[in-house]
Amino acid sequence: MASLLPLVLPLLLPSVNAQAYDSAERGSDAFSYVQPLNTTILGPYGHSPAVLPSPNATGVGGWEEAFERAKAFVAELTLEEKAIMVTGQPGPCVGNIEPIERLGFNGLCLQDGPLSNRVADYVSVFSAGVSAASTWDKDILFERGLLMGKEFKAKGAHVALSPVAGPLGRSAYSGRNWEGFSPDPYLTGIGMYQTIMGHQAAGVQATAKHYIGNEQETQRNPTYNPNATLNTVVQEALSSNIDDRTMHELYLWPFADAVKAGAASFMCAYQRLNGSYACENSKAQNGILKTELGFQGYIMSDWGAVHSGVASVEGGLDMNMPGGLGNYGTVTGVGSYFGGNITAMVSNGTVPESRIDDMITRIMAPYYFLGQDKDYPTVDPSTGYLNTFSPIDTWLRDWNLTGPSSRDVRENHGERIRQHGAAATILLKNENNALPLKAPKSIAIFGNDAAEPTQGQLNQQNYEYGTLIAGGGSGTGRATYLVTPLVAMQEQAKEDNALVQYWLNNTLIANSDVRSLWIPKEPEVCVVFLKTWAEEAADRESLNVDWDGNEVVKSVADVCNNTVVVTHSSGINLLPFADHPNVTAIVAAHFPGQESGNSIVDILYGKVNPSGKLPYTIAFNGSDYNAPPTTAINTTGIDDWQSWFDEKLHIDYRYFDAEDIAVRYEFGYGLSYTTFNASGISGAAASESITSEPEDLPIVPGGNPAYWETVYTVNATVSNSGAVAGHAIPQLYVSLPSSAPEGTPVRQLRGFEKIYLEPGEEQTVCFELMRRDLSYWDVVSQQWLIPTGSFGFDVGFSSRDLRDRMEATVVSS
Ligand SMILES: *[C@@H]1O[C@H](CO)[C@@H](O)[C@H](O)[C@H]1NC(C)=O
Ligand SMILES: *[C@@H]1O[C@H](CO)[C@@H](O)[C@H](O)[C@H]1NC(C)=O
Ligand SMILES: *[C@@H]1O[C@H](CO)[C@@H](O)[C@H](O)[C@H]1NC(C)=O
Ligand SMILES: *[C@@H]1O[C@H](CO)[C@@H](O)[C@H](O)[C@H]1NC(C)=O
Ligand SMILES: *[C@@H]1O[C@H](CO)[C@@H](O)[C@H](O)[C@H]1NC(C)=O
Ligand SMILES: *[C@@H]1O[C@H](CO)[C@@H](O)[C@H](O)[C@H]1NC(C)=O
Ligand SMILES: *[C@@H]1O[C@H](CO)[C@@H](O)[C@H](O)[C@H]1NC(C)=O
Ligand SMILES: *[C@@H]1O[C@H](CO)[C@@H](O)[C@H](O)[C@H]1NC(C)=O
Ligand SMILES: *[C@@H]1O[C@H](CO)[C@@H](O)[C@H](O)[C@H]1NC(C)=O
Ligand SMILES: *[C@@H]1O[C@H](CO)[C@@H](O)[C@H](O)[C@H]1NC(C)=O
Ligand SMILES: *[C@@H]1O[C@H](CO)[C@@H](O)[C@H](O)[C@H]1NC(C)=O
Ligand SMILES: *[C@@H]1O[C@H](CO)[C@@H](O)[C@H](O)[C@H]1NC(C)=O
Repeated sequence: MASLLPLVLPLLLPSVNAQAYDSAERGSDAFSYVQPLNTTILGPYGHSPAVLPSPNATGVGGWEEAFERAKAFVAELTLEEKAIMVTGQPGPCVGNIEPIERLGFNGLCLQDGPLSNRVADYVSVFSAGVSAASTWDKDILFERGLLMGKEFKAKGAHVALSPVAGPLGRSAYSGRNWEGFSPDPYLTGIGMYQTIMGHQAAGVQATAKHYIGNEQETQRNPTYNPNATLNTVVQEALSSNIDDRTMHELYLWPFADAVKAGAASFMCAYQRLNGSYACENSKAQNGILKTELGFQGYIMSDWGAVHSGVASVEGGLDMNMPGGLGNYGTVTGVGSYFGGNITAMVSNGTVPESRIDDMITRIMAPYYFLGQDKDYPTVDPSTGYLNTFSPIDTWLRDWNLTGPSSRDVRENHGERIRQHGAAATILLKNENNALPLKAPKSIAIFGNDAAEPTQGQLNQQNYEYGTLIAGGGSGTGRATYLVTPLVAMQEQAKEDNALVQYWLNNTLIANSDVRSLWIPKEPEVCVVFLKTWAEEAADRESLNVDWDGNEVVKSVADVCNNTVVVTHSSGINLLPFADHPNVTAIVAAHFPGQESGNSIVDILYGKVNPSGKLPYTIAFNGSDYNAPPTTAINTTGIDDWQSWFDEKLHIDYRYFDAEDIAVRYEFGYGLSYTTFNASGISGAAASESITSEPEDLPIVPGGNPAYWETVYTVNATVSNSGAVAGHAIPQLYVSLPSSAPEGTPVRQLRGFEKIYLEPGEEQTVCFELMRRDLSYWDVVSQQWLIPTGSFGFDVGFSSRDLRDRMEATVVSS
């Protein structure tokens, strides 16, 4: 995504005078190999077909009136102003489109990121995407998006660079998985939909990113020759080579939900896709996004992801970020392929002006649709001073920052963040009723994740001391306050008149006989807080907890028979200590946001009954996961960084289920302080005749509306069989009939609901299945088809805890 830290920036972006290898010189095909296609290397993929021209938006699907206003706005612009409208430039925000005062347009302020307005003061740090997904709670996903949106708006940001569906999470090791939701496209799709609805209900434009195939950080950008004065590419960025079915059923799926939700913008990704840079890939942008899915908004580039002018414009890119208007050098010293080149490419007849008009109409339609032309708050002046991406001395114009500075926009959001954090917390193990804690009088706390960070509020480093609430890079947030686990535990202990002892030095704990540390005798409970970092621009090297966390747990559990382990983590952790008999409980809290300590105390003490579920699978060994990032390409060929998505649909649980591999904790798993049952599954078609093929309806945002129609419903009865009230998350998994093409996963999540049940209470849940939910993507006819034959419907509480099953045909015979 967007901005990178100034320290890492020079490594990631071209240095000087990017050499144009604009594919206008190679015809208007967006295919961007500099070398001829080598089918030995490229195998069946590696070529992205040209889909031209870029389709005009029409405003269909609700934006019609805004679209007319956008067209009227465009009609007033000079060609130079048109170039300005599609090209970012340095200014107070991470991305800036200049105002055009003459027309009363105040410009656009684009701000990171998916869990907070990063470049701002007095804002909240919300839970990360991986935590939000762990709630499996549509209302929380919406509310989190809404409250974030309100903060962006109150700070004067028109566009939130959020949410993330790429990476989806193909690889367990990918450095940005935590910014997005889950490797399951259905769960991520709901995360995208709800978050975008929330952002835009607040009046802020959402940005679905990074489109598409952005499944690893390693070699996401090209390598340039450091010795050359011109930007000479030594090796092109990684190419994600994805076949059409895999694209639709996994990686595109949640982006389709984003279009359906009416997302204002999409951000194209850094890496290549089938050999062509994502931001100039006409198949992905013109073909799939703007035609098949009917997207009416605009595509902005990731920061520095543009590698051509004409080819990108023709290939469907609508806005160049961070841009730069000419050869003067932006912060990074890069001239822009847009800016003056837009004027040139129109003037010299290469690109029709109507294409530039369409770009701006796409940018302005959501602006008018969301009412951003009316009384929108000014950009908070304090933002300009905090922006390290384009500092004030790089600005080329007066940005007229007016209005109160350092506005406090947090309202009561902390209370909600506390609840979101608790609802996201996943109880993985709970033996001997270790949890909830029953007012223990002697508590020992261990681990460098328990207490205050010692290096400031912006999470940008894997620092040794301090709890983690977010990962690093453009997706992080600057906390105005942080409730640490240690402080919250001590608050609770004070109420309970308990003794709290704590040790924060992992090296010390791992290498000590812990009994020599505590007084006066074995504590009633030992709570170990562990953390795992991940950041933009780097993939994870290990799936273990950081800072010798496994050794820390062993050292404590060897002498403490009631050891509770809490992880604050970017995602998947192998948990070898789960087998230790003295580890009585394990709680995965991911990145819960600024109320972290309160959220975890609510769970540990049973004020909130845990209901979080794993949004991915925890395997026994790192090597059990397939699809690792492509690394260690030792050859020097310019196109040698190729990532073949050969596992196709089989990532995460789809892979473990297909190969029947035993796992430690499966997708969808999570305990409660009560127990639930599910039974009485029944299903019925929503109409009398259901055809395999969808009706061919006019395209609206989201694609053929027939795909989104409910065709089948499945009901089941869920009951609380335990002693306390709690939230159940019944899940519906669908197995397609054997007539579906080879390579179809064993079963796939196609429904979930979160319901509250008192002890003994039961409730019927109704899962509504859309046509898309019951279809496979047919590569021949290029549509979703419902296979004939018998479907399996399983309802349960995880992907492997299936309680009731039925089989039925869906297509009427
Ligand atoms: C294609 O790549 C293969 C494998 O690197 C190489 O052996 C072959 O010479 C290349 N062919 C051409 C025509 O460059
Ligand atoms: C990528 O290549 C595959 C295999 O040729 C093709 O099916 C798919 O449509 C291509 N996708 C894109 C975006 O080029
Ligand atoms: C877009 O609309 C303009 C007229 O406004 C037309 O000239 C142009 O051909 C259209 N482009 C496409 C790709 O349909
Ligand atoms: C850059 O120059 C150094 C020193 O001469 C050399 O070792 C290195 O190989 C050069 N790099 C490239 C990509 O040419
Ligand atoms: C056109 O693009 C090239 C490549 O980024 C850049 O060096 C040049 O300055 C641009 N020209 C104008 C007029 O913006
Ligand atoms: C037209 O201008 C564009 C942008 O500067 C440039 O890439 C292209 O080569 C030019 N084409 C001609 C025919 O001059
Ligand atoms: C600066 O902003 C204020 C308030 O938004 C506005 O009234 C004024 O016209 C602007 N001045 C310029 C030079 O744009
Ligand atoms: C942590 O403990 C180790 C081992 O006792 C010690 O060497 C190190 O200095 C300690 N670190 C701090 C910051 O106290
Ligand atoms: C569990 O803890 C007790 C101390 O309460 C200790 O004696 C025992 O050895 C531990 N068990 C293991 C397997 O380490
Ligand atoms: C754990 O150790 C404590 C104190 O040594 C003892 O009272 C308790 O019974 C032990 N619990 C188990 C489950 O062994
Ligand atoms: C690259 O070199 C490393 C270290 O020698 C080796 O482990 C790895 O397998 C090599 N990668 C390839 C693709 O040959
Ligand atoms: C499921 O329940 C809903 C209402 O709770 C009902 O309208 C529907 O007919 C039921 N469907 C089945 C298949 O039982």
